[in-house]
Amino acid sequence: MGRNGCTHGGVSRRDFLHLTCGCALAVATFGEAFANSDPIRVTQAMGGSMGAKVRATFLGHSIFRIDTPGGKTIYIDPWVGNPKAPANAKQVDKADLILVTHGHADHLGETVEIAKKTNARVLTMPELSTYLGNQGVPAANLIRMNLGGTATAIPGTPIRVTMVRADHSSTVFYTDPQTKVVSMTTVGGAVGYILHLENGLRIYHAGDTALYGDMELFGKRYKPDVAMLPIGDHFTMGPEDAAEAARMWGVKTAIPMHYATFPVLTGTVEAFKQALSPQITLKAPAPGDTVEF
Ligand code: NI
Ligand code: MN
Repeated sequence: MGRNGCTHGGVSRRDFLHLTCGCALAVATFGEAFANSDPIRVTQAMGGSMGAKVRATFLGHSIFRIDTPGGKTIYIDPWVGNPKAPANAKQVDKADLILVTHGHADHLGETVEIAKKTNARVLTMPELSTYLGNQGVPAANLIRMNLGGTATAIPGTPIRVTMVRADHSSTVFYTDPQTKVVSMTTVGGAVGYILHLENGLRIYHAGDTALYGDMELFGKRYKPDVAMLPIGDHFTMGPEDAAEAARMWGVKTAIPMHYATFPVLTGTVEAFKQALSPQITLKAPAPGDTVEF
């Protein structure tokens, strides 16, 4: 069993992390197309409680729980059993939507268990959706998307999700309990998400990614207010590249993630702060802490 009591056919989540998180090189171009159009912003008139805030609670590693002004609960990459998670993180009683950036166990986490328990919709790449369906997540709750798409994510609300590129890999590993032979399945690409919330706030969650030049294009196109960025280095960009990513996305606020979970994730908040443009507000909640927007 893994340290959190979680196994996938005998491979602990920690082993998964070591086995699965490789980084792709960033090869990117920058374009000006679409730079001035902004058709996607959800207007305040479309819904939500006027004046209510967005609450983003950090649950360690890359996990955020977003509580929206309209009373919806969204989990991103819910590895709620991660070593830094607060003790109550595993008690997930309500989830309307789960976003999964890629198949690595430190992001897929307890998605299947939470989706079954809460009846949450799960939005991810088609290949990973199929995997989740095979694991017992009801087909009706799976939102299959691909890069560049924007979808209504929770029916009856104006909440929408845009899927954007991440430079990373996406694989699920399985160890046969009898033979101990490890097999693997590539489950689409790795992605990031832009959440468009009821009060107009836009949050970009990068998933695992390297720095790439199209962040500047996407920043002009989608104009997120907040970026949640990996800073841990080794499997993703480190603090300096993450600071450059925050600049390229043009956000007002940057929140670091994917650091300090394991010794190999060496990037620090202090290094991120040093590299970050002074115009960008740094928010670095401890696991369990909530940031309001
Ligand atoms: Ni990964
Ligand atoms: Mn990761």
